[in-house]
Amino acid sequence: MLKKITTAASVIALCALAACGSGSGGAGSGTGNGSSGDTITMGFAQVGAESGWRTANTKSIQDEAKAAGIDLKFSDAQQKQENQIKAIRSYIQQKVDVIAFSPVVETGWDTVLLEAKRANIPVILTDRAIDSDDTSLYKTFLGSDFVEEGRKAGDWLVQNVNGPTNVVELQGTTGAAPAIDRKKGFEEKIAAKPDIKVVASQTGDFTRSGGKQVMEAFLKSQPKIDVVYAHNDDMGLGAIEAIKAAGKVPGKDIKIITVDAVKDGMTALANGEINFIVECNPLLGKQLMELAKKVVKGEEVPARVVTVEGTFTQEQAKAALPQRQY
Ligand code: AHR
Repeated sequence: MLKKITTAASVIALCALAACGSGSGGAGSGTGNGSSGDTITMGFAQVGAESGWRTANTKSIQDEAKAAGIDLKFSDAQQKQENQIKAIRSYIQQKVDVIAFSPVVETGWDTVLLEAKRANIPVILTDRAIDSDDTSLYKTFLGSDFVEEGRKAGDWLVQNVNGPTNVVELQGTTGAAPAIDRKKGFEEKIAAKPDIKVVASQTGDFTRSGGKQVMEAFLKSQPKIDVVYAHNDDMGLGAIEAIKAAGKVPGKDIKIITVDAVKDGMTALANGEINFIVECNPLLGKQLMELAKKVVKGEEVPARVVTVEGTFTQEQAKAALPQRQY
């Protein structure tokens, strides 16, 4: 499955569309390949700020770069692939020591990653994978097993409903690895119970507003909805607003399964408005910085580092909430 500068003026343009610098110099600053002395410079091209998960992920990367003494150049692509490609090209031009990024979508990366390879800048994929035949384009991929997350959601449903069950699915960003894989894993598991049917499935782009809007449309077009399967907490939280506005009780009239387990999602779970959450851990910063140091030194790293994560029922959410970091 894992097959996946410019002038000062263009750097300034990039900064205009992105939050640059992260307190350690903007996309236009820094020495580098890129680095001054022994300091490693990392260019990080983030997806955006679409969800609570993403906010926690960005904070983890910024905090851990600082703790590791890594000079981080950070850009926010606002969920657009072309912005991420521009950011990566800018990092290549600045001769950073390592590039890390979380690809908005799975395909279309070969050209820019080949440019990084030719410039001898190692690339680390974090959070999301790419679909490319050329695995030499990146050193390692650190992140969750999204298919497994979908399977966990499907398993819970199979074990917790009886009889004909109509599911509506709120998909993540079209073409993004977590949207593709969470759908796949879920479908794999619910196939065991032909009574469970996905009657509608549409993207809510991983945002709360997207989830709300799509759920409003589902509530109008679908005569019977028993379950919402949302690919992240934010879309599930948007769906809760739509369900309440339609005079129904989320978690009771319509069961809700989500993925992430960020604080807002966990609070809704503990309150009984969500029924089950599959965890997706955003705190990837520490492992990313450790991998980056090794990659820059030319040391071997595993091709794949899978994040360890669990699941939460309503009772488990009540117990976990007080210590939840994000
Ligand atoms: O890639 C991870 C996913 O992206 C998270 O589940 C979601 O909340 C985010 O937007």
